[in-house]
Amino acid sequence: MADETRDAAPAPGADPRDYVQDGAVLLGASRQGRDLVPEMIELKLANRHGLVTGATGTGKTVTLQVLAEGFSAAGVPVFAADIKGDLSGIAAMGSQKPRLVERAKEIGLVGYGNAKFPVAFWDVLGERGHPVRATIDGMGPVLLSRLLELTEPQEGVLNIAFRWAADERADGDAHMLIKDLKDLRSVIDEIGQRAGELRSKYGNIAPQTVGVIQRRLLVLEQQGAEKFFGEPALDIADLMKVTPDGQGVVNILAAEKLMETPKLYSTFLLWMLAELFEKLPEIGDPEKPKLVFLFDEAHLLFNGASQAVLEQIERVTRLIRSKGVGVYYVTQSPADVPDRVSAQLGNRIQHALRAFTPREQKSIRAAAETFRKNPQLDTERVIQELTVGEALVSVLHNKGEPSIVQRTLIRPPMSRVGPLTDEERAAVIAADQANRAKYAETVDALSAHERIQERNSPVGQVKDGIRRFGNLFKFKT
Ligand SMILES: Nc1ncnc2c1ncn2[C@@H]1O[C@H](COP(=O)(O)OP(=O)(O)OP(=O)(O)O)[C@@H](O)[C@H]1O
Ligand SMILES: [Mg+2]
Repeated sequence: MADETRDAAPAPGADPRDYVQDGAVLLGASRQGRDLVPEMIELKLANRHGLVTGATGTGKTVTLQVLAEGFSAAGVPVFAADIKGDLSGIAAMGSQKPRLVERAKEIGLVGYGNAKFPVAFWDVLGERGHPVRATIDGMGPVLLSRLLELTEPQEGVLNIAFRWAADERADGDAHMLIKDLKDLRSVIDEIGQRAGELRSKYGNIAPQTVGVIQRRLLVLEQQGAEKFFGEPALDIADLMKVTPDGQGVVNILAAEKLMETPKLYSTFLLWMLAELFEKLPEIGDPEKPKLVFLFDEAHLLFNGASQAVLEQIERVTRLIRSKGVGVYYVTQSPADVPDRVSAQLGNRIQHALRAFTPREQKSIRAAAETFRKNPQLDTERVIQELTVGEALVSVLHNKGEPSIVQRTLIRPPMSRVGPLTDEERAAVIAADQANRAKYAETVDALSAHERIQERNSPVGQVKDGIRRFGNLFKFKT
């Protein structure tokens, strides 16, 4: 909401909060007859998710930037993956570039000003942001199987590894935790060695399968995942910060390199959604979201996903809303998103699509049909005519019904369009002392790897015997 008590009185449009009024974030304006009509996203319906689509170079990233700016100004923290590095510009003051000024004029924004936004950089590989880590136990066997591209029987063995470690913990070996890849390798190795003895309780553990999993783990490690698995694990509260003056922090995940391993990228984001879903309390429909999650290159999530994973995505998308998290999938074509997920994405921004092949024509038709009809617009044709930075917009309004689709010129961002320099980025990371102190160093606590090593040593065997039967004897331990 606009702050009426600002001391000076610059032209409206110079402060990010000017673009948040009456519980809505301004997206741009549509021409309706001779009038320009503001188009906006309602904050109280922003947790009903969204979809941003369009071909390459049509303005998707700038639209994400505008969304992120708007949410931040509204006090809503944002999480976004930065695929090409260009979203990082949101941390820097923009400038009055001709193209942007032109757009401001086109939509009649008189006081278009520049600003920068509070940003936290994160990086799974730990290079271009604070390291983001998860434990293997935290990720769980379903996502891990997806990451390792395991077949069903292989997934079975992976499940045994998790169950075995859990049973050992329940049996009193509290440190039999699978935190990093070393731990998982040790556990898999251990159950492989003891396959004969474990068969009756857990089922078959074929040596070839153990071999396959071990090799996949090695590949994963070479892709840099060893940096990702471990502690301190990401605390999702750190993605939900608001600055003292009420701006939502924009969390940007460096994804340029991560994208080279699409499975790791998409599994990681999926893990994050699952984590948010599990850890956040139920709050119903809040006045504004607690967090907005912008999921770029979302097709990677759905491509070749198993039934179990698809179900998980669908379920998390459906239920995370009542935890106050809005998820915005970003991809080229709406056809990239399965119907059951798509049906839950209420706020839609469709940039231009091109139709070269019959298949593309079909997906344009499908995209056109998802909108609430506007008698003034031939949606199917307009989708192909939209210029850069222009989109068909239909959002949820009133009681949650979709608004009539409008051809909308997206407003220009206030922050920089284009990436930060390496120096600028390093400065932002260095200034973020709280996250640096918490995440910069890896901690390798006692876990399964060490426990198995210990147990398999002569002293360890003795101790293990005592641990398991100590209650029957009077030992001094
Ligand atoms: N709303 C806008 N106002 C002004 N200029 C815009 C707007 N949207 C896009 N542009 C211009 O178009 C360029 C390309 O936009 P953008 O990078 O968002 O495309 P994209 O769809 O993300 O492309 P890619 O698929 O290659 O990532 C921008 O650098 C900017 O100059
Ligand atoms: Mg882009």
